[in-house]
Amino acid sequence: MSPRPQPEGGQAKRPRMTIPTLAEMKARGEPIVMVTAYDFPSAQVAEDAGVDVVLVGDTAAMVVLGYDATTPVGMDEMVTMAAAARRGLGRPLLIGDLPFGSYERSNEHAIDNAQRFVREAGCDAVKLERGGPSVERARAIVRSGIPVMGHVGLTPQTASALGGFKTQGRTAESAAQIARDAFALQAAGCFAIVFEAVPAAVTEALMPRIDVPVIGIGAGLGTDGQVLVFHDLLGITTGPHSPRFVKRYAAIHDQMVEGVRAYAREVRARRFPDADHVYSVDEGEVEELKRYLDSESLATAPWDW
Ligand code: KIV
Repeated sequence: MSPRPQPEGGQAKRPRMTIPTLAEMKARGEPIVMVTAYDFPSAQVAEDAGVDVVLVGDTAAMVVLGYDATTPVGMDEMVTMAAAARRGLGRPLLIGDLPFGSYERSNEHAIDNAQRFVREAGCDAVKLERGGPSVERARAIVRSGIPVMGHVGLTPQTASALGGFKTQGRTAESAAQIARDAFALQAAGCFAIVFEAVPAAVTEALMPRIDVPVIGIGAGLGTDGQVLVFHDLLGITTGPHSPRFVKRYAAIHDQMVEGVRAYAREVRARRFPDADHVYSVDEGEVEELKRYLDSESLATAPWDW
């Protein structure tokens, strides 16, 4: 394996990210960089790129498991992915995303599952979606000692109730609902809130009234930080329908296909493995092996051990 690159900005020497540090970054106006990761290599990439926060998002259902919604992924799969991400991370804060069905039923159920992320995967915090009934769950998890990130605007777990994967807050009434949800989550003790698919002007109107860091995805430049899905920003996912807020910074899918094609070409042409990719052995050892293979004793050897 080639040596891992140094994190950007000499961040290898910087201490582990904490929730108070995120609040200080907001106070200083220093943008917070968050990205999703779902396994050991994607977490290593996030680490080496020097991001501040890593979310093991339930978008895993779509970009890793191939579903067309986030709802099918369950706690066991999320915990497995979060534990793998933990093993690839050093400095960033690690957040486990509570999947659909893992926190709605009761405060006890929500706390149990939040604890699984901490105990089994080593997460620093959890995230849950929506205001309304989720506010009480957020408060209960915070009181149990686990930091919680809220998520308002477009909340994919309940997208069908919102009329699909649509921008939220385009009317004053809908924007006021986002404001109420954000205020309630903040009052419940959330240390940060994700704003998803919210018009930039609505974000800007709300920001002066929110004290905790706001991380945007499709919410404009006015937030305290940004989050994108790993597979989207790197161009690992393909297909014509990506949300407007996705900016692709690389075309990794194409590079991976080209790499596998080149391998397939060389296998078919018997050019792989070449001399650089095989193990050597003393010629004398091979000669001795051949003598043994040709010998009488081999013909009479007991094979049925
Ligand atoms: O699951 C996820 O990846 C998310 C981000 C888009 C914020 O919730």
